[in-house]
Amino acid sequence: MSVTNKTRDLKAELAQLAASSRTAQDLMSSMVKLLHQRMLKYNWVGFYMMEPGAQPPMLVLGPFEGAMTPHKRIPLNQGICGAAASSGQTIIVDDVSQDPRYLACSLETKSEIVVPVFAHGNVAGELDIDSHFPAAFKDEDRDLVEYCAGLVGKQLEKTGQ
Ligand code: SME
Repeated sequence: MSVTNKTRDLKAELAQLAASSRTAQDLMSSMVKLLHQRMLKYNWVGFYMMEPGAQPPMLVLGPFEGAMTPHKRIPLNQGICGAAASSGQTIIVDDVSQDPRYLACSLETKSEIVVPVFAHGNVAGELDIDSHFPAAFKDEDRDLVEYCAGLVGKQLEKTGQ
């Protein structure tokens, strides 16, 4: 199957998951499992969510698949995760060893993508994916991961949790 067909089929499955999930939490848990299972270069897949009412603002580890990470809480001024949440922009890093913002989770990680999740126009969290392969995240991956973040944002707007 071509990469394009694979992504197209996966998007259809993800949309079904979203339609059948009761809460955003349920959707996030099944989404990280599906992405980790199907996308062989996605070696760590997880959500960080904004801690409600935290001052200073803080990202807290949510559902994830892959190795345990030492980074359970990340302030917005730290890491690639903090940069994506504070800017509201997708960040792709082809070589994490060259990015001074990078907080290491696994020594095997070579590249990373972080996509913010928006609900009601605000950053509610983000989807973070690490790969053991350099420059693993192409336009098609960005499109897929942004689609996933969009589904979670819509679910949050619908169910609030
Ligand atoms: N690498 C991230 C930290 C999260 S772990 O990779 C799971 C960062 O630089 O913010």
